[in-house]
Formats: sequence, C-alpha cells, structure tokens
Amino acid sequence: MTRLLHIEASPMKTLSHSIDVAKQFLDAYRAAHPNHEIDTIDLWSQNIDLPEFDADMIGAKFAVLRTQTATPEQRAQWQRAVALSQRFNAADHYLFSVPMWNFGVPYRLKHFIDVVTLPGQNWNWSPATGYQALLSGKKAALIYASAGAYAAHTEGASESPDDFQKPYLRRWLRFLGIEDVTEISAAPTLTAPDLLAATKADAKARAAALGAAFWDARLPAGLTANQSVSNMVTLLRLTPCLPAAASPSPSTSSPCLPAQRGRCRLRSLRAAWERTRR
Ligand SMILES: Cc1cc2nc3c(=O)[nH]c(=O)nc-3n(C[C@H](O)[C@H](O)[C@H](O)COP(=O)(O)O)c2cc1C
Repeated sequence: MTRLLHIEASPMKTLSHSIDVAKQFLDAYRAAHPNHEIDTIDLWSQNIDLPEFDADMIGAKFAVLRTQTATPEQRAQWQRAVALSQRFNAADHYLFSVPMWNFGVPYRLKHFIDVVTLPGQNWNWSPATGYQALLSGKKAALIYASAGAYAAHTEGASESPDDFQKPYLRRWLRFLGIEDVTEISAAPTLTAPDLLAATKADAKARAAALGAAFWDARLPAGLTANQSVSNMVTLLRLTPCLPAAASPSPSTSSPCLPAQRGRCRLRSLRAAWERTRR
C-alpha cells in the first residue's frame, strides 16, 4: 500500500501554523487517495523512540558496521536507530511541517535527521562510487512557518542569507536522493491579524491543491525515476525542447524541436502524465 509519511516538527499542535496548513494538504490527499496509508511521526510525542546519538551510539555504529565486534547491547542500541530509519525509508512520499527556529529547524527535527540518516539504510559510500543516495524516486512536500518572511516566500528557492531552514532540508533530502520537493511557506506568522489570516488562507489553499495533486504517478518511459513530470513541465517552460531520450512516446521523439513546437511537446507530456496517474 502506498504510504505517505508526515513528519510533524512543531510542538505547538493545535496552535501550530505549520501543522494547520499541513492539515489542508492531508485532507485533500486523503480525499484523493482514500486507500493510501498516512503515517505520522510527531517528533514531540513521548511515544517515538528517538535515541540519543551520543558517544555510545557512535561506538555502537562503528562496532556493528566496521569491526563486527559489537556486543549484544551495542547491537540492540544500533537497532533502535535502524528501526526508525527503516520506518522513514519505507514511506513512498513525505510531508514535513516545519517551524523555523533560530533561522534553522527545531532541534527535535535535527535530532531525528541525525538518527535516521544512516549508511546502508538511505545512503552508501564507497571509494569507487563516492556517495550514493538510496531514496531516489520519492517526493516531498515541505510546509514551513516562520515569524518573519524570508526571501519573499519564493518557494523552491531561498535567497535570504538568514534562512537556514529551507536550504538545509533541501540539501538533506537531496543527499538521500529525494529531489522532487515542493515547498509552501506560511510567513510571516508574527504580523497583524488580518495579514496573518490572508497569509494562512493563501498557504492553506496552496496546500490543499498540492495535497490533491500529490499522487505518485508512474513516469512516462524515458524519464528517470526522480525526475517528476511536474519538473519536466517546468523544464519545458524553460527550454524549447527536450532531448529525444526524454520523449514520452516515439511520435514525439524528433530531435531538438523549434521553440514553437515545445508547446506540443508539453501537451503530449501532460497527456502521458494523465494516462499514468492513478
Ligand atoms: C525557539 C524559537 C525560535 C524561533 N526562531 C525564529 C527565527 O529564527 N525566525 C523566525 O522568523 N521565527 C522564529 N520563531 C518563530 C516561529 O518560527 C513561528 O512562531 C512559527 O509560526 C512557528 O511555527 P508553528 O506555528 O508551526 O509552531 C521562533 C520560535 C521559537 C519557539
């Protein structure tokens, strides 16, 4: 069964703006995919086993992965991190609701990232290949909230040098192979009530639209697994043609097309996408 994992990083729950916006996404997603499973990890819940990543854990890691001399206690300790990592990795797609804290992410989310980002589970390294991401083909929706507005809400890019929240999460997800990332920012949350209401309404509308359209389309032949069709549509808008290898069907596999035929290409790609959506 297809599984969406929601990582909730705000402790504020019913008062949280990021969770409030994420709910719109989830309602729309649920309506579009009643048979999909939605798993939630509330990073502030007492029920989540989020082990300390301290010297003992690092010792256990090296003992298990490098020396093969791990004691039963070390194996059990390492297994706690592996179990959480595997729960994370098992999801097909991700939704994160993330407040900004001191220009970055809340420490519980950083703690979670440090525990679940494990060699052999979601990344690998070898002298021959360097780093290899193991979660390719998945996508993530990121819903942010912050008291201030950073980079004028330009989701997909965070030009503000003060914003370490969005670039950090993008970089981490890319490290794991999750390149298809859509961002919605509810900001500024520290503002006049009417402006906050307008900001929230806008973010919620976008979250609902994203949730409804966040299906896991099988990709037309020729597209790589982590290259979503929505990315390809964006690419088509930017370039007059695609290389023949990315063509969704033989009839559109002509060599580089003139600019005016890019629109036909866009239509055929969209049609291919429609055919493959669930
Ligand atoms: C510890 C802490 C640090 C914060 N640091 C920032 C910050 O650096 N920049 C900012 O714009 N807002 C900051 N805020 C405000 C939150 O980002 C804002 O209240 C946001 O709405 C929180 O998201 P939530 O409502 O989903 O919990 C901070 C809040 C807390 C509690």
